Amino acid sequence: MKFFADTAEIADIQELHDTGLLDGVTTNPSLIKKSGRDFMEVVKEITAICPGPVSAEVVALDHDGMMREAETLRKIADNIAIKVPLTIDGLKTCKALTGDGTMVNVTLCFSANQALLAAKAGATFISPFVGRHDDVGYPGIELIADIRMIYDNYDFATQILVASVRNPIHIHDSAKLGADVMTAPPSVIKQLFKHPLTDNGIAAFLKDWEATGQRI
Ligand code: E4P
Repeated sequence: MKFFADTAEIADIQELHDTGLLDGVTTNPSLIKKSGRDFMEVVKEITAICPGPVSAEVVALDHDGMMREAETLRKIADNIAIKVPLTIDGLKTCKALTGDGTMVNVTLCFSANQALLAAKAGATFISPFVGRHDDVGYPGIELIADIRMIYDNYDFATQILVASVRNPIHIHDSAKLGADVMTAPPSVIKQLFKHPLTDNGIAAFLKDWEATGQRI
């Protein structure tokens, strides 16, 4: 399973990149606003840190506008994935861009049928939002199971990128279901490393080692 960081915070991306475990980055207009940075500038910096796919989202709603914005965004770096919303114009744009060899992340997916459409449009990634589904009382993870089954039925190459991840359980369940990628806030990714028994075990081993009086 690939791990993407869902953030536009450079320090967090650098820290995760340094672990060697970061495979890509996703941004969206809300994350850019939160960073307080210039969109083009911060995305360029991210692509320089992370060699994996870096998603940058268009804001136009019509196909021509999306194509124009995509043209500007893909010039930032070779590892840019253009993020388009799951609309008719978004999928039309997806088809045109992927046909041209550009990576496309289709975002704001809330149903298995939408994911089916994105795969037919040749999407590189489909981003089903699990947390936002949970927020409205539907178990978001069920969407991942449905999409996995449909994609496997037809051998679609589109990668399932689990988005709107809010906790380690979302990641655990997505991995069990065979999701290809997950994108999560850095704080959630860092939670994965932690277990109280690991901390207790380290403390006990160090105490015993100290008592041996030996050195490595
Ligand atoms: C995905 O690419 C989105 O940027 C993101 O996962 C949305 O998450 P949120 O629902 O926590 O805003």
